[in-house]
Amino acid sequence: MADDNSERPVKPRRSQHSYGKLDRDGFIHRSWMKAQGLPDDVFDGRPVIGICNTWSELTPCNAHLREIAEYVKRGVWEAGGLPLEFPAMSLGETQMRPTAMLFRNLLAMEVEESIRGNPIDGVVLLGGCDKTTPGQLMGAASVDLPTLVISSGPMLNGKFRGKNIGSGTDVWRLSEAVRAGEITKEDFFAAESAMSRSRGFCNTMGSASSFAAVAESLGVAMPYNGTLPAVDARRQAMAHISGRRIVELVKSDQRLSSFLTREAFENAIMVHAAIGGSTNSVIHLLALAGRVGVELTLEDFDKVGKGIPLLANIQPSGEYLMEDLHYAGGLPALMNVLKDRLHVGAKSVEGRTVGEIFDGAGVYNAEVIASLDNPIKEDAGMWVLHGNLAPDGALIKPSAATKELLSHRGKAVVFENIEEFKARIDDPDLEVDENSVLLLKGCGPKGYPGMPEVGNMPLPEKLLKKGVRDMVRVSDARMSGTAFGTVVLHVSPEAEAGGPLAFVETGDEILLDGPGRRLELLVSDEELAKRRERWAGPTEHSTRGYVHLYTNHVQQANKGCDLDFLVGGSGDEVKRESH
Ligand code: FES
Repeated sequence: MADDNSERPVKPRRSQHSYGKLDRDGFIHRSWMKAQGLPDDVFDGRPVIGICNTWSELTPCNAHLREIAEYVKRGVWEAGGLPLEFPAMSLGETQMRPTAMLFRNLLAMEVEESIRGNPIDGVVLLGGCDKTTPGQLMGAASVDLPTLVISSGPMLNGKFRGKNIGSGTDVWRLSEAVRAGEITKEDFFAAESAMSRSRGFCNTMGSASSFAAVAESLGVAMPYNGTLPAVDARRQAMAHISGRRIVELVKSDQRLSSFLTREAFENAIMVHAAIGGSTNSVIHLLALAGRVGVELTLEDFDKVGKGIPLLANIQPSGEYLMEDLHYAGGLPALMNVLKDRLHVGAKSVEGRTVGEIFDGAGVYNAEVIASLDNPIKEDAGMWVLHGNLAPDGALIKPSAATKELLSHRGKAVVFENIEEFKARIDDPDLEVDENSVLLLKGCGPKGYPGMPEVGNMPLPEKLLKKGVRDMVRVSDARMSGTAFGTVVLHVSPEAEAGGPLAFVETGDEILLDGPGRRLELLVSDEELAKRRERWAGPTEHSTRGYVHLYTNHVQQANKGCDLDFLVGGSGDEVKRESH
């Protein structure tokens, strides 16, 4: 459906409450902006477009977003708008301690208040690295202006000694190979610069690739946003066209909430299953739905994704990398394969429905984008587990797991925290075998704090040397979207919140029944009640600052880890004058 591009503001644009005033306040709002060389007529009522940029040299995945912003500005000027770029907290996944996830909600708060507090009418969100796009979208959703996402795009394929190597996925693989004695440390470190060959986000189907694809399938980013390589000139052209589009979205008053419908979320869940997307997207989508008031539950990921096969042959669930996915046809081609399951009438910021966008999109490499008749794997959607060990749910990504381990009963080897795990896992005297279940506590949203990506615990060295490459692992942590294995994550409630995970002891039996969606601790209720009485309770992580606010208000993983007081929105009301 083509959108109505005629100018029809139902009320004066937000920016006109500042720039359109012929009084002392108007003087102040305009005069200081003119310090940047802006002429009089740019304050004539044209749409003012904020470009929210998470560029940072501490977030290499987003390091080229200053350049991308310049292309957005070209498009905004061309369409008759006024572009104004502003920074937002950048969250570099590989640099921030204790975990970038701790700060996703802080970014969301900053974005929300920056948008609402400034005289802007529409927003372009420039992000890429894992937590930047979700944090920006959550904040923008709580204001609900016309909004468009441009992702930084995947970095080029890693190339090492004649082979492709993928961000993250090969870090996990190669580090296990060192510990198994299969390669030397020198070989391992030689791969460092070969893996990250350009700016852009991880080139595997990690959390950033997954959420860039989510943005495209939600209809809030332009076609091919998820897969166009970061350094491809066509991403610059896409940014230019996006600049034009955001002006049109403002003129036709198409707000973010008009795209973020239940149907759009269902499309995103199905596409996410077909690409073998990251478990982290589940948390972010739940939080985003909460911001716009769309009813979405953890269980929906299992129900809506049920029967969706893995179509994208991309690491960690497959073999190829994001560049390959783009050359094979990108998301439109994959969505065309999946068309009978998708809501084709959902809107896109591009101006057409998602169905119109992918109609006729061809697959150019069937090794990379498979057909429904011959998928990479059957049934790739997330499995949501329940049971006495996870009363509010837990998650496993079957496409990245070992099929035989998805139904397993074994004795727990318990680690109370990550430091204990690191100290003991390679102890030759540790009582562990390939049937054991490695269980880690204290890594949930409150526990670390921030819910780090440590759920894919490295296997004991002595088992690696025997050739073991996967074991059942259970925790309240997350794992990197680039990781793989039979890893049960996001156990809710977490140990720190007094969930049953806190009371598991080494030697207890655990039952993982993936097909039956069960996660059970085979210990009697009476015994668990006794252990609960002995529990020392949660740790106070900080008595001041953001961490104090966060730990007192963060919700559990099954609710998306948003702060309880940030759920919903406060709209775009123009507040009282500053002077
Ligand atoms: Fe930034 Fe992977 S570390 S996207």
